[in-house]
Amino acid sequence: MDWFISPLEDKALSGSISIPGDKSISHRAHMLLAISEGEASIQGALRSEDVAATEAAISKIFSTNEFSNGEFIECDCGNSGTTIRLLMGLLSAGAHKVRLTGDESLTKRPMERVAKPLRELGANIETSDGTPPVEICGGELTGANISVPIASAQIKSALLLAGLGAKGETRITMPGSSRDHTERMLKYLGAKVDVIDGGSIVAIQGGQKLIAVDIDVPGDISSAAFFIVAGLIVPQSSIKLMNVGTNHSRTGILTVIERSGSNTVVRINEREECGELRADLSVSATSYNGFSVLPEEIPSLIDEIPILALYAALSEEGDSKFVGAQELKVKETNRMAAIIEEFDSIGLSATCHGDDLHVPGGQVVEGGSIESRGDHRIAMMGAIAGLVSENGIRVKNVECVETSFPGFAQLLVDIGAKVEELH
Ligand code: S3P
Repeated sequence: MDWFISPLEDKALSGSISIPGDKSISHRAHMLLAISEGEASIQGALRSEDVAATEAAISKIFSTNEFSNGEFIECDCGNSGTTIRLLMGLLSAGAHKVRLTGDESLTKRPMERVAKPLRELGANIETSDGTPPVEICGGELTGANISVPIASAQIKSALLLAGLGAKGETRITMPGSSRDHTERMLKYLGAKVDVIDGGSIVAIQGGQKLIAVDIDVPGDISSAAFFIVAGLIVPQSSIKLMNVGTNHSRTGILTVIERSGSNTVVRINEREECGELRADLSVSATSYNGFSVLPEEIPSLIDEIPILALYAALSEEGDSKFVGAQELKVKETNRMAAIIEEFDSIGLSATCHGDDLHVPGGQVVEGGSIESRGDHRIAMMGAIAGLVSENGIRVKNVECVETSFPGFAQLLVDIGAKVEELH
């Protein structure tokens, strides 16, 4: 299925919408409650294909029937990197034999970045030339000091989950901080996690018990990002996004928007619930200039780079730079290449300089068509570009949006956009 997004011309976006649950927190809630003592409920969890993959894997692995026969349990992680990488950690300690695989995109993504440090704890893990399928034979792990060369929340979380099941302490040192939902949820469920040096070192003592407590999941700022940018770039717009997670390790997009000179994204009623910050966001259109993002800021907005690249292209003036954005190349698709090539097909330009992405400001979206490449965030970036285009944009193969944001097109319509489905 494709979408045709018509230009809004003189119409503005308006209204108030609720953003679906945070994907990262939803995955962690399902996994951590599965290994907690007692029962608790999850409110506001994202119901998307990626999270469904986690739920299905968890229920298959932790159901006694599947577990008793000694064969590998097969789990399909679909498109979800978080599912496969966090499960690799979670299952390394224990008695399960599991083979984890995924779709065409996931089976090309690097898994040794997780398997290799897990082996330092004694994990028995095999990848297929570095990619899925991955086979894990759970066993006894021993805590260790581990140095990880990438500031990745997925690697850190896999190691924390393995460390929880290991003997002694596991200490993980990374080149910088990354999203800290796992640390927060572990603490919320009663475990002690030491967070040192602004989050670039974390340590956990093995053998701690988790106690199930109800979890309320805030809206996903990575999903809200598409509406934040839409509200800023469509002239005269004024929208409200309710209940959005504002965990500091995820709000790089808000920092960068302020840096560009926009002060029209306002956090209202910021509060902490279940160990995580959330707020309502009011967004209104404004003009702004180009900006630079430093390498150490990349993890705090990694998933927002496609939509921030569009925001940068539409700035009044000045070049924007995303410095040290190499992780973009190993996402659901090579997002560095996808941004540059799909921009080109709608009349925008962006260039890659080694690991940096440069986007000149003052550009105009002509329109045309964008191929999603099976990547939800490329598809949604294309849809937002359509709103401000001269001729409209056809976004091809939008089924992938279901991985993170079911209902995206309807919410866009609810605030005033015109989205046609083309089969
Ligand atoms: C995620 C971490 C990030 C992010 C991904 C979700 C998580 O990946 O891009 O969408 O839930 O931990 P990396 O850990 O590879 O940076």
